[in-house]
Amino acid sequence: MRIGIIGAGGMGGILARHLARLGHRVSIANSRGRESLTALAAEIGATPVSVVDAAKAAEIVILAIPTKAVADLPRGLFANAPGSVVVIDIGNYHPELRDGRIDAIDRGMLDSQWVAQQIGRPVIKAFNNILAKSLLEKGVPRGTTGRMALSVCGDSSDAKAVVLHLVDDLGFDPVDGGDLGDSWRQQTGTPAYCHDLEAAALRRALAEADRSRIAEYRAKREARIRRSL
Ligand SMILES: NC(=O)c1ccc[n+]([C@@H]2O[C@H](COP(=O)([O-])OP(=O)(O)OC[C@H]3O[C@@H](n4cnc5c(N)ncnc54)[C@H](OP(=O)(O)O)[C@@H]3O)[C@@H](O)[C@H]2O)c1
Repeated sequence: MRIGIIGAGGMGGILARHLARLGHRVSIANSRGRESLTALAAEIGATPVSVVDAAKAAEIVILAIPTKAVADLPRGLFANAPGSVVVIDIGNYHPELRDGRIDAIDRGMLDSQWVAQQIGRPVIKAFNNILAKSLLEKGVPRGTTGRMALSVCGDSSDAKAVVLHLVDDLGFDPVDGGDLGDSWRQQTGTPAYCHDLEAAALRRALAEADRSRIAEYRAKREARIRRSL
């Protein structure tokens, strides 16, 4: 498939590498322009492009940028993209560590609902609850004992099916996490967040999350990251 990845840092770079290896036509973009991506793109077999071009010709667009940067994306980025384009949001809102306060999220909007609102397109939430190192190293063929699982949330069953398939191809058991309105269950710091769980354990973790604790989960995780820095 033609896959455009906006953001070529820790996560975007790894996704680009794996997806290019699987035979997809991968374009990568960042904030500094395509020249800054020439070496990385050549190494992994992707094409460096502008943000606009990453969104333009792709069947799947992956947003792999800090949450606050979503508001800086060009206006109307997806205005002319066909409705069939699948947009994947892998982001996590980190108000204390990186993003600053985003009022709508602080008032209760889910991370990916806010992203969808900003870009004016529905998104699928996936890959936000796996650390870059695990994404790089832990993918294994289907049927391998102990295979890690990744959950996917979204409102379009067709778009979600595309992403569930991609998760499997990347070496992880795909788990349907429900609609986008369920995606709080895999946001920062929840039981389903970055614990490298197998499918049954991931389903249990998603089920045991407590919606009233979204802010607490996030704050605890941010505090933990801060202590580790
Ligand atoms: N790291 C993890 O383990 C992990 C795991 C799951 C989810 N996530 C989430 O995934 C997202 C990306 O994380 P990351 O660790 O990959 O971040 P990162 O290493 O800091 O990379 C961020 C990338 O976004 C690009 N970018 C920033 N602003 C942009 C803009 N306005 N337009 C286009 N590109 C822009 C940067 O390009 P420039 O360098 O040119 O500015 C860079 O390539 C975040 O929301 C993060 O919370 C991270």
